[in-house]
Amino acid sequence: MMLSIENLNAYYGQAHVLKDVSINVNKGEVVVMLGPNGHGKSTLLKSLCGMVDYRRGKIVYKDQDIIKFSSEKIVNLGITYIAENRELFPYMSVMENLKLGAYSRNARKYEKQNLEKVFSLFPRLAERKKQYASTMSGGEAKMLAIARGLMSNADFLAIDEPALGLQPNLRVEVTKIIKEINKQGKTILVVEQNIPQITDLADKLYVLEEGRITFSGSKDDALSNEDLKEIFLGM
Ligand SMILES: Nc1ncnc2c1ncn2[C@@H]1O[C@H](COP(=O)(O)OP(=O)(O)OP(=O)(O)O)[C@@H](O)[C@H]1O
Ligand SMILES: [Mg+2]
Repeated sequence: MMLSIENLNAYYGQAHVLKDVSINVNKGEVVVMLGPNGHGKSTLLKSLCGMVDYRRGKIVYKDQDIIKFSSEKIVNLGITYIAENRELFPYMSVMENLKLGAYSRNARKYEKQNLEKVFSLFPRLAERKKQYASTMSGGEAKMLAIARGLMSNADFLAIDEPALGLQPNLRVEVTKIIKEINKQGKTILVVEQNIPQITDLADKLYVLEEGRITFSGSKDDALSNEDLKEIFLGM
């Protein structure tokens, strides 16, 4: 097992957002976490990446409990968070944004190699190296955020709502990219609301509601579950 989260609890002040969340991700898998707005999906990914102050439980990554690690140390271990709201540097070029993705100790020495990989995966970015991030379309910005995440040279990507706000054709494109990245060897935990294309990528699915895991299983298990079918899978 690559990642095992056990009884994770997370808090913002008095608010108890994650309640005894346990999930497993094996090496090479795409695991999809579905859940409604505000139920703790981003908090889960941020907790994994050391970005939530008050956490309790176990986060075991490659046989090591990382719950007390700083976000910097976690990046150096090879886990990267790709934010839902893109969080690009608007007045920097595409190229500068990508290079900033390679800031970790582990990533710097692979910068050139990873730039090549990223440009072959996203030819649109290669054409726009000098363009300001702020002038990219919504879809392009999303691609840039994923590409920047790849520059970190991580083995494990925690991707927050990659299809959020995208038109159906771009959702298909993002889905293809995630599939390709996975094929190239990355293990992926992706959070989404109800995007059937993304769900279709899943080796395993979880549903998070009100901070608790209310479903875990295969895609087939999910599809034969009437409640899930209606609420989350958009079918
Ligand atoms: N930094 C913060 N400080 C205080 N409360 C927060 C903070 N971040 C999130 N919350 C609260 O924690 C709860 C879970 O938020 P979270 O962002 O994890 O939800 P989500 O499932 O990712 O939602 P969405 O689908 O809208 O992105 C929400 O009630 C939110 O208001
Ligand atoms: Mg979120």
